[in-house]
Amino acid sequence: MAIQWFPGHMHLTKKAISERIKEIDVVIELLDARLPGSSANPMLAELTSRRPALKVINKQDLADPARTALWLAHYNALPNTRAIELDASETAPARRLIRAARELAPLRGGMVKPMRVLICGIPNVGKSTLINTLTGKRAAKTGDEAGITKAEQRISLADDFYLYDTPGMLWPRIIVAKSGYNLAASGAIGRNAFDEEEVALELLDYLLQNYPALLQARYKVELADGMTDEQLLEAIGRKRGAVLARGEVNLQKAAEIVIHEFRAATLGRITLETPEEFAQWLAAGQLIDAERQVKKDGLENQRLVRLKKIPRPPSAVS
Ligand code: G4P
Repeated sequence: MAIQWFPGHMHLTKKAISERIKEIDVVIELLDARLPGSSANPMLAELTSRRPALKVINKQDLADPARTALWLAHYNALPNTRAIELDASETAPARRLIRAARELAPLRGGMVKPMRVLICGIPNVGKSTLINTLTGKRAAKTGDEAGITKAEQRISLADDFYLYDTPGMLWPRIIVAKSGYNLAASGAIGRNAFDEEEVALELLDYLLQNYPALLQARYKVELADGMTDEQLLEAIGRKRGAVLARGEVNLQKAAEIVIHEFRAATLGRITLETPEEFAQWLAAGQLIDAERQVKKDGLENQRLVRLKKIPRPPSAVS
């Protein structure tokens, strides 16, 4: 299964961003430090017309610090881009944010040309928490469902520095299958849109390969050579007493435990992707997507031929 998400109500957000962008100097994108690649919205690059970008790698307290350093270096090496890491424990992040944004648009500033910054991010990435810290109050959460609350709010961070908030936004089709799993594991996708057991198995598969010591420390299970994710989920379920009446493991319950403990970082500080891995997943996803498009175009062509809306190709005429 590949996790898919159709955010029908997010069309309004998309429209609001594309209208606002005309007068924006810098775009801040909040990324989840546990999945920086997967939490980056591919629609945003297209919507923001290549405005200077500040990547805020948020929730760094939950992520693997060595990997956060890799992601910071990755983004800081891109043109017109800067990256900083952040977490909710930082009580006064405004100064760092403002400084990084000013570096990206040095010609803006002062009352005549105030800096105008747009802040975007997927649902649950910590945008409301950050904005509340920046404004020093419990500002109303900008609704993820446009139309329920207003689509945008303007926050003044300094006399010449305005921040425009947008609702959390996912994109219509996730072409990197692994991103779907990682977004689900992180809590960005509503629980009705995915199967917990499948997401937990994908998560365990990655952790077996990349963080075996953390698994062993938390679940006290013997990680035998060649152990599969299914065997591990079952072993965790047994350890935790997630057992049904007939003695079978309650895999649903075991999956919920694993996902919950990953999200809360009870398992430890984990990052589910490196820049290199993500680039490979993206390339593979784009290839599959291009093949899918060719197939779809072919079917559409056949349909139009059947409906006689377009002439048959010469080879098919004879
Ligand atoms: P959003 O506006 O982008 O949708 O996200 P929001 O700020 O509501 O944050 C989503 C969840 O992530 C919240 O937890 C919030 O406390 C948590 N969070 C935000 N920033 C950080 C961070 O830097 N580190 C960690 N560890 N957590 C962060 P919640 O359980 O949904 O709510 P609650 O615990 O605040 O009640």
